[in-house]
Amino acid sequence: MRGDAFLSSFFEIRTLTTPQELFAAAAEEVVRTAKAAVAERGRFTIALSGGSTPKSLYNLLATNAKSSLPWDRMFFFWGDERHVPPTDPESNYRMAEETLLSKIPVAAANVFRIPAENADAAAAADAYEQTLRKFFALQPGEFPRFDLILLGMGPDGHAASLFPGTAVLQEKSRLVVANWVEKFKTYRITLTLPVLNAARCVTFLVSGTEKAGALHAVLQSDSPGEQYPSKLVRPSDGTLIWLVDRAAASELKFST
Ligand code: 6PG
Repeated sequence: MRGDAFLSSFFEIRTLTTPQELFAAAAEEVVRTAKAAVAERGRFTIALSGGSTPKSLYNLLATNAKSSLPWDRMFFFWGDERHVPPTDPESNYRMAEETLLSKIPVAAANVFRIPAENADAAAAADAYEQTLRKFFALQPGEFPRFDLILLGMGPDGHAASLFPGTAVLQEKSRLVVANWVEKFKTYRITLTLPVLNAARCVTFLVSGTEKAGALHAVLQSDSPGEQYPSKLVRPSDGTLIWLVDRAAASELKFST
């Protein structure tokens, strides 16, 4: 296993020296989790994260890890999406399509993107909720159990599109919501906390000094989750792994 590992009763933090090492460790984690899921359950369900950080990971999966992943047994979903069409430069789907999906032998039927081209963001969220309910064959009140949810974290401590002080943080029953983000004056369509916390494994990828303050607040302060929503991501019956590079970990204190 790469990097310095720190284990708490809730989560594991693995600090990698460089971003390159960070993405290599993340690729190993995806391959390990995918193989285990397919061996145990015949399929691997993954929710991809957006933003810029995972691009290098997706590139690595599409190149170095290409031959070692069971692509035909893998099913792709998204943790969140910007309220834009899939062709838009801002689209998380487009980013994953360009860096990963267009380069691997995956059937279109295995890819479930968020229909964010719908001008009605709430309707897009409802449609994606129905997609999840159908794919995971959920009974009323049940939550989908992803094998792996990849997340990034913003400098404000948000994860997926669970932004500080937004209504979505209180959501207890819906799987997907359209969340109005005042600072961007737009909606984001995002999985809710109950879905993130029902996963078998959640892995955060955090790189760069601009994330150091929030990472310290999330992992080593008693600041409320309302203020740093990544803090509220705690799988109830699953593992939580923080893969961070040394720059992002620069404000963390580890007892030697
Ligand atoms: C998005 C993401 C978001 C992202 C963080 C970190 O749609 O932007 O899902 O949660 O992971 O904002 O973004 P960077 O990786 O670009 O720093």
